Amino acid sequence: MSIAAPEQAKLPLAPYKSLANSELTERIQAVRDRMGPELLILGHHYQQDEVIALSDLRGDSYQLSRMAADSTSCRWIVFCGVHFMAETADIVANRPQKLAERNGTRVTVILPDMAAGCSMADMAAIDQVESAWDDLAEVVDTADITPVTYINSAASLKAFCGRHGGIVCTSSNAEAVLKWAFARSRRVLFFPDQHLGRNTALKMGITNAQMPVWDPHADAYGGNTEAALQASQVILWKGHCSVHQMFRAEHVHALRKAHPGIRILVHPECPQEVNDLADISGSTGAIIRTVQSAPAGTIWAIGTELHLVNRLKQEHPEQEIHFLSPVICMCATMYRINLAHLCWSLENLAAGAPVNVIKVDEETARWSLIALERMLQVV
Ligand code: 13P
Ligand code: SF4
Repeated sequence: MSIAAPEQAKLPLAPYKSLANSELTERIQAVRDRMGPELLILGHHYQQDEVIALSDLRGDSYQLSRMAADSTSCRWIVFCGVHFMAETADIVANRPQKLAERNGTRVTVILPDMAAGCSMADMAAIDQVESAWDDLAEVVDTADITPVTYINSAASLKAFCGRHGGIVCTSSNAEAVLKWAFARSRRVLFFPDQHLGRNTALKMGITNAQMPVWDPHADAYGGNTEAALQASQVILWKGHCSVHQMFRAEHVHALRKAHPGIRILVHPECPQEVNDLADISGSTGAIIRTVQSAPAGTIWAIGTELHLVNRLKQEHPEQEIHFLSPVICMCATMYRINLAHLCWSLENLAAGAPVNVIKVDEETARWSLIALERMLQVV
């Protein structure tokens, strides 16, 4: 279907907030039916069930970036996830090869709520990373550092990696990406998640003594001595996920005591103390596959976002699934994408007045794509 020029008046959001979920669901479905395969709704596993039910495809951040990269028929992607994911979708879905296949027609990417950001991604700003790079150049040879950014980062950081021979990783390929980096250089600057960087490098035999933490707010050298930076293998950015950092060693001990034989399954964004005590640490996709393939009667405690754990509980009644923390650990920004925002953004799109369009500027997209393509070639 064709969409009218986007000069039309935008529909206000407020009236949608008072509608019942049943009505919102019907109206969303009506837009999906009308727009057909040209509309692709992507849902990250941490989304609410009602949103997942209306998504064409669901996945973790790696799978979703692949789906956006591979999509052939879609003209519009409505991304039920967070800002950095929508930016990534815009970059890969509109890469030169795809644009040529579509005679220059762009895929428009929409984030239903612009406030759906990621607190971890916000912990590394491009000016901080650039100034860290300049500071590092005073004590080590930056030609011998590969910058690696977790996909949970702004496009400007991915572009930084593209420009400096670096690469993007996700939680499902971090080890393969670090190996790629070490085949090229002696050191890695890993941002923004210190825990994913540390947990992955520890598995590869790198020690904490070789992994200084770079605090962008410290006075000099990220709070490190010159000697520590010179002895480093991985320089870890001082960032974390506010959801996964809430899981603690005492939660693991308490559940092991209460449920002998329990298996502890965590995301590598959890702190090292939790990761070390877990039976299995893996990406969102790996967590799902592990539960899916386990025999009935397995007892699990899972340390990752609450909506995903609750969905696993519902989908696998043959297993006993506990949430690893006694307190609620949910991603408040993912949670901002609700049916009201989804319906509002879809009806505006169908009316020819798209809202919340995520478009990465050309130069940033070009360099980001280089770092993303390196990742897509690694695994
Ligand atoms: P995944 O890469 O496992 O999808 O994780 C994304 C995320 O935001 C985890 O906090
Ligand atoms: Fe960001 Fe953590 Fe939310 Fe993932 S769970 S989007 S890392 S705040």
